[in-house]
Amino acid sequence: MTLLKRAVTHTIYTPHDSRPADDYPDPEEIHRSVAEQVASGELDLSDQDSLRRQREIGRDWPQFGQTMIGIERLDNIQRCYEQVRADGVPGDLIETGVWRGGAAIFMRGLLEAFGDRDRTVFGADSFHGLPPPDEKSYPADEGDRLHTLDALVVSRAEVENNFLLYGLLDDQVVLLEGWFKDTLPTLTDRTWSIVRLDGDMYESTTDALTHLYPQLAVGGFLIVDDFALPACRKAVEDYRAANGIDEPIEEVDWSGVFWRRR
Ligand SMILES: C[S@@+](CC[C@H](N)C(=O)[O-])C[C@H]1O[C@@H](n2cnc3c(N)ncnc32)[C@H](O)[C@@H]1O
Repeated sequence: MTLLKRAVTHTIYTPHDSRPADDYPDPEEIHRSVAEQVASGELDLSDQDSLRRQREIGRDWPQFGQTMIGIERLDNIQRCYEQVRADGVPGDLIETGVWRGGAAIFMRGLLEAFGDRDRTVFGADSFHGLPPPDEKSYPADEGDRLHTLDALVVSRAEVENNFLLYGLLDDQVVLLEGWFKDTLPTLTDRTWSIVRLDGDMYESTTDALTHLYPQLAVGGFLIVDDFALPACRKAVEDYRAANGIDEPIEEVDWSGVFWRRR
């Protein structure tokens, strides 16, 4: 599993896969975040180890890697999977927001490594990037510009090809194409053991929680990739408050969090 983690994050290769700071896909926030890390000494753009660390903690957008989430959040997926297996928690795995597919490929790889034929990995994505903000219904998304970024548009064909590169595209993988608000309501007959949210925005996070959380098995895990993003965090906090969810939120790294359903 270590090898698969290193392959999908592209940390197995040298030179490093981090984008040079001046090649970041537009958003000022990312420039700012890189600049802040350089200023604080956390990141040294001339140092391979420092850049590799960026990849390991999923703090950059790779040029070649098939996932942007980093090793620590992949470790978290593995720990959650091993726990549900050990405890006999039923259900499929889903990631909402797959980008190039790396985290979902890793989920399918886990099933393969453990000889698990009973579960399917679902990957939901528009395969056209993020939706423009619906500011009327979701004011927290006001001004969101992620939908303008070509770097976040990955076609279904590219994702399928990435699964194929690992020999992991088969009937235990289902890719759901379309906006979450349209595709996720079709999944109400499923049971989930792991629900992993990686849609960045308030709307995307809320849609996923609304349509998937009710079917998360007791003992299953809800993972949030983007808790560092204020809109995503607010969506999670609003949903938890509205539904009386008080399981403690546990930290994975600077952005990822999860809780286990009681
Ligand atoms: C940050 S990327 C996901 C990163 C990915 N999990 C990885 O392993 O690198 C966000 C993805 O969510 C998708 N997305 C966000 N909101 C969506 C929505 N409402 N409907 C469909 N896809 C959405 C985008 O197309 C994009 O591929």
